[in-house]
Amino acid sequence: MAVRTIIEPFKIRSVEPIRWTTRQEREELLHRACFNLFLLPAEDVLIDLLTDSGTGAMSTRQWAAMMEGDESYAGSKSFDRLRATVQDIFGYKHVIPTHQGRAAERILFGVMCKKGDAVPNNTHFDTTRANIEFVGAKPVDLLIPEGREPATRHPFKGNMDVAALESLIARQGREKIPLVMLTITNNSGGGQPVSMENARAVSAVCRKHRIPLYFDACRFAENAYFIKLREKGYESKTPKAIAQEMFALGDGCTMSAKKDGLANIGGFLCTNDDALAQQEKNLLILTEGFPTYGGLAGRDLAAIAVGLEEVLEEDYLRYRIVSTAYLGDHLAGQGVPIVQPPGGHAVYLDARAFLPHIACEQFPGVALAAELYLEGGIRSVEIGTLMFGEAAKMDLVRLAIPRRVYTQSHIDYVVEVILEVFKRREQIRGLKLTHEPPFLRHFTARFERL
Ligand code: F0G
Repeated sequence: MAVRTIIEPFKIRSVEPIRWTTRQEREELLHRACFNLFLLPAEDVLIDLLTDSGTGAMSTRQWAAMMEGDESYAGSKSFDRLRATVQDIFGYKHVIPTHQGRAAERILFGVMCKKGDAVPNNTHFDTTRANIEFVGAKPVDLLIPEGREPATRHPFKGNMDVAALESLIARQGREKIPLVMLTITNNSGGGQPVSMENARAVSAVCRKHRIPLYFDACRFAENAYFIKLREKGYESKTPKAIAQEMFALGDGCTMSAKKDGLANIGGFLCTNDDALAQQEKNLLILTEGFPTYGGLAGRDLAAIAVGLEEVLEEDYLRYRIVSTAYLGDHLAGQGVPIVQPPGGHAVYLDARAFLPHIACEQFPGVALAAELYLEGGIRSVEIGTLMFGEAAKMDLVRLAIPRRVYTQSHIDYVVEVILEVFKRREQIRGLKLTHEPPFLRHFTARFERL
């Protein structure tokens, strides 16, 4: 019989202790943080599922590459290595390093968008949405309807509604749509993948109207592995070949290397357009740095180059997708409402179904995240009414899994804590907003209990 247990495909040689707190301490800490888990000191968190961004563990190969990082201001060897790796996987002509994904977004939208434009996406994440709004353009989410229904199962819930894209172009006019984006995987909608078929259809529409297509590629390797598992014709292709095929459908990408770059910092912007690349590099020099480092140290560039290779290894991706599903399936098996199926980097609790007695205006997602902290020191993040205001189609609590950091027993603990909270869900109360900043309010908003 073949052995079926899927294990972590690594051994752990460096560890960081995590610290227990008492329930009473957590109650006080929660009040001090005004019920916003972003405002908690990290050392008071036991299991930190706030984000999978920059929180992963690097490999021995990555650390070795860091020691060899070339810190030259211009012409760094580490940049050459990164560019070669990115061009191999992504296939785009220009590779512009940035300190993280949002810097790539700011530069891209700063160069391509103007007031009155619209930028369609399957679903914009918070920073893309905010950066588009910041230049006076309008972010438009065109997700397929299944993607907005947490309980509905569909293999590619991240797909864009192609008919809706066509009708937006007809309504708005192609000259008012400087680019179309596809976010792989769809972070705001449950970490759900986009199929190759859908990317192909979106690409065809874009080509027909001569609108550039850009990928928000943060979790491209997880998306490629879902295609391998779920889409006909891709069963025997490598994740790398699948990623290459998908990127060939577009004209460029933004990337946060803090996710599927397996690095703690970094990102890049790619384009095939020479004139655009020149403008982007001009902006880059203004705020990020010279185009061969873009706000990063040479050692960071080296770590990302190795991370991009490791993230496409099948052993890694199998473990990654299976271990996330393990959390989702153990919760759903006990009746906890989650976005189905579990995503690649995270499991998303459906807070509206978990706490049906709390109205959206009373932030069920924020209230639920606060309870998970109170019960077991687990930090998660709301993706819903707080993050997106009235644009929110769902109120979700994301349990994002840092890459190569937690083991199965940590996850078993998380399941146990959530089931405890689920048992006493009727006693949980909603929250009232007492302070909010003008944009990206979720990072610093404050609340009190109703
Ligand atoms: N696009 C997507 C889909 C993202 O998930 C993120 C970051 C970004 C862009 C921006 O990248 O953080 O490097 O500037 N998401 C993190 C998260 C922060 O928690 O999901 P960044």
